[in-house]
Amino acid sequence: MKIKYEVKKIKDIKADAVASVTFEDQISTKMHWLNTLFKGTLETLIETNDFKAKSSTSILTYLGPDNKSKRLMVIGLGNSKEVKLETIRKSYAAAAKKLNAMKLTTAAFEVPDLSYIKSITNASHYDIMQAICEGVFLTQYTAKKYHTKNNFTPFNEVIFFTDSPKYTREATEALKDSKIICDAALAARELENEPSNFLTPDKFAEWVKKSSSKAGYQVTIFDEKKINQLSMGGVINVGKGSVNPPRFLILQYFGANKSEKPVVLVGKGVTFDSGGISIKPAAGMEAMKMDMGGAAAVVGAFEAVARLKYKMNLIGLIPAVENMPDAGAYKPGDVIKSYGGITIEIENTDAEGRLILADALEYAANYKPKVVIDLCTLTGAAIVCFGHLLAGMMGNDKELKKKIFEAGEKTYERVWELPLYDEYDKLMKSETADIKNAGPARQAGTIMGGIFLKKFVQDKYPWAHLDIASVAMGLNESAEEYHTPGATGYGVRLLAEVLKQYSH
Ligand code: BES
Ligand code: MN
Ligand code: ZN
Repeated sequence: MKIKYEVKKIKDIKADAVASVTFEDQISTKMHWLNTLFKGTLETLIETNDFKAKSSTSILTYLGPDNKSKRLMVIGLGNSKEVKLETIRKSYAAAAKKLNAMKLTTAAFEVPDLSYIKSITNASHYDIMQAICEGVFLTQYTAKKYHTKNNFTPFNEVIFFTDSPKYTREATEALKDSKIICDAALAARELENEPSNFLTPDKFAEWVKKSSSKAGYQVTIFDEKKINQLSMGGVINVGKGSVNPPRFLILQYFGANKSEKPVVLVGKGVTFDSGGISIKPAAGMEAMKMDMGGAAAVVGAFEAVARLKYKMNLIGLIPAVENMPDAGAYKPGDVIKSYGGITIEIENTDAEGRLILADALEYAANYKPKVVIDLCTLTGAAIVCFGHLLAGMMGNDKELKKKIFEAGEKTYERVWELPLYDEYDKLMKSETADIKNAGPARQAGTIMGGIFLKKFVQDKYPWAHLDIASVAMGLNESAEEYHTPGATGYGVRLLAEVLKQYSH
């Protein structure tokens, strides 16, 4: 996709469609201005007053033969007093999708007066431009890879235009960065949407290998032999029931002096979660091909950070397994031992994510990390708690949690904190081992996941745990605006924003 930023009058733009924007409360001025410019084309539209410029709405009209572009779109941004970055994102996204549906290949979008929007939202010119870009870029993908006839046409050229040269520096910078971040988010969606018969742990590792050489970071892949040597009991046992052996991936990016402590990201990479011997019900099980959404977010974050050349060191740890029932599978009642030597009684083989994360979180301590952030589709209870709006955040470090919360508000990949009070610990006590892998049914399920992981972090480093089961998938029914059916790529934009603060 070609991208341009042009300081030009709308009349001088040549595209399949040019899109102008207006606020609901300023529609009259804008429409009359456009009408004069385009010699009465909007006369009837103004007269009927059919278009109100509510947010996420738009109209399309046709321009006369003496115009460079044949189609004029007007995008509504809603009431100017209520405008937020998210309104902008959604409105541009809805418009982009409409133009995509018409199979147009070049689209031009007006960049409104950034200073004016800044005066209302308090966001920087850069941030506003980023939101505009996200609306357009995040829609340019569908999960139709396996359709023999793919009828989705993304734009092959996008132009952002404004007649003011005032913000060119910030806007072009935002445009460049945003394209990188959105590409990474879409790559994460694609990886998540990949069916598990194609994406086994081994194939996942190959995918990351390719990603690393393209984006400019390194990856080391431990196979089942190495994983056994290292006694990663969580990964070994969860992987035992599958013919597709596990992998443990270490992603590395050095953008700062090697001696500088890294940030460590940990991602749950269950390529398919059948539940194992504690097998899941059939309904909805197909979504469990996306049980590696946390891992995909980590991969996406690496692509973004490496391409943006953040000045920091970053480590990614991804245990990749398939959780299956089989004669060789691990079973309820088994006792296993984590990489760090903690014994775990298996209460439920469907609580597999926390077992592989236990190994990874203990392994993370080897890096003496600045901070550790894990992302995982850990509990169905997160959906019960938040619907599909927010991810659950837990952790041991106020400052880190604050950073993530604020980045969540900004990117709208939002999180909400749940407590890890010590009083919860006893619900995970086991008679036969140091801890068991599931608490009592229907009691604080998402918190229980966090309480379990806390045992393996042992306050060795500042840590935040993001349970993204609620936001990584399950938006099929409401794949509106800048989401597309299937996976959301949740976490890539959030992490890019959080990690920016560690870049110096
Ligand atoms: N991968 C699931 C969680 C999940 C459920 C993610 C629905 C996305 C949508 C996880 O491995 C799991 O099965 N968790 C169990 C834990 C329980 C057995 C303690 C759950 O949520 O039921
Ligand atoms: Mn499970
Ligand atoms: Zn799972």
